Amino acid sequence: MKIVLGVSGGIAAYKACELLRLFTESGHEVRVVPTRDALRFVGEPTWAALSGQPVTTEVWENVHEVPHVRIGQGADLVIVAPATADLMAKAAQGLTGDLLTTTLLTARCPVVFAPAMHTEMWDHPATRANVATLRERGAIVIDPASGRLTGADTGPGRLPDPAEIFEVCLRVLRGAPRDLAGRKVVVSAGGTREAIDPVRFIGNRSSGLQGYALARTAVARGAEVTLVAANVSLPDPAGAKVVRVESTAELREAVLSASADADVVVMAAAVADFRPAERHTSKIKKTPGEPSPINLTKNPDILAELGERRTAAQAGLRAQSETAADDKTQGETVAGGAVPERPPYPAVIAGFAAETDDVLANGAAKLARKGCDLLVVNQVGEHLAFGTADNAATILRADGGRAEIARGPKDDVADAVWDQVVTYF
Ligand code: CTP
Repeated sequence: MKIVLGVSGGIAAYKACELLRLFTESGHEVRVVPTRDALRFVGEPTWAALSGQPVTTEVWENVHEVPHVRIGQGADLVIVAPATADLMAKAAQGLTGDLLTTTLLTARCPVVFAPAMHTEMWDHPATRANVATLRERGAIVIDPASGRLTGADTGPGRLPDPAEIFEVCLRVLRGAPRDLAGRKVVVSAGGTREAIDPVRFIGNRSSGLQGYALARTAVARGAEVTLVAANVSLPDPAGAKVVRVESTAELREAVLSASADADVVVMAAAVADFRPAERHTSKIKKTPGEPSPINLTKNPDILAELGERRTAAQAGLRAQSETAADDKTQGETVAGGAVPERPPYPAVIAGFAAETDDVLANGAAKLARKGCDLLVVNQVGEHLAFGTADNAATILRADGGRAEIARGPKDDVADAVWDQVVTYF
């Protein structure tokens, strides 16, 4: 495939070298189009040597080849990494002035921006408006990662891991549908840990791979993703906002808070059903005689709670609109009686069920018990599902439907889940 790698003038330009290598090593033909300022960070010989292609910043070189039109027209994908605030402002306005901006105007293929800048610049209303404009026009703008920025400060603005940007680009190249564009999605991943004392905990074997695959694929399908990660040691998926938690109580708080204005919640995390009733503040010592038992207490069921909260919110809305209708028939002005367009709780709630026996029967009972719309049921055991790259599952729907997912990579399972989710919109 023909890739245009646009590089604008930010310190993260050096990371684009790794992105370039990932493309060339997997057989893609990459034309690097840096801005003049980008060359102050990484020089032309580096881009030329790594891409094996000529590198120009201006429209005035090789004019007979009409590069400002040809490069954009011939591309299968344009990725701009890093995308500075200035470059996105120009792209949003349709301004030209160099080869990269003209290429962005002539490209008719998918365009991905991977912004990197200081938090203040990313948060500025001008940048927010430009990003919104680019997204409205169909471009994919990957939210920057949070972390250490140039200098001592930290916050959102880091260029995501090049390997994760590459993953998003590959999915876009494969024609990932944009059916989650404009949707807010919350995914929980990993496994919760319940502290016994400062050094010990009760945990489970969940690696977080399936939840991370859900987040990664949702970003490529255009969603704004919050990933609540419980004890996962995987690289952050590009574009997802990652909230790290440890215990079920922390996971619950993070999921409920992110769900308040979300369209979809997928609970892929393996949540501990019980926690030690008492958390020792000092390490439990090995004393002579029988060890004392650890008493357990029940954890809240987050998935069931999401369903209950939604049912209550829907009942509240119904009552509100009935009152509004009554008031109208009585010819009164309805103050504050308007029904909000966005429902107060997610339109789609999905869970995962890991079962060892009677997989489908247990799954169907769980779907009804938890009040969710979709339940992804899979069999677990010694070498099944946990920590493996592959998965197979059956998706049970609250409306009685069912979809089988053949054994395959967890990204494919994730896409099959999103295929089901979008049918509810
Ligand atoms: N879940 C949850 N809160 C819990 C337990 C589970 O939100 N306290 C969610 C999980 O994230 C998953 C779904 O519920 O999406 C099913 O999890 P599972 O452990 O299979 O269900 P349990 O209710 O714990 O049932 P079981 O008796 O089989 O353990």
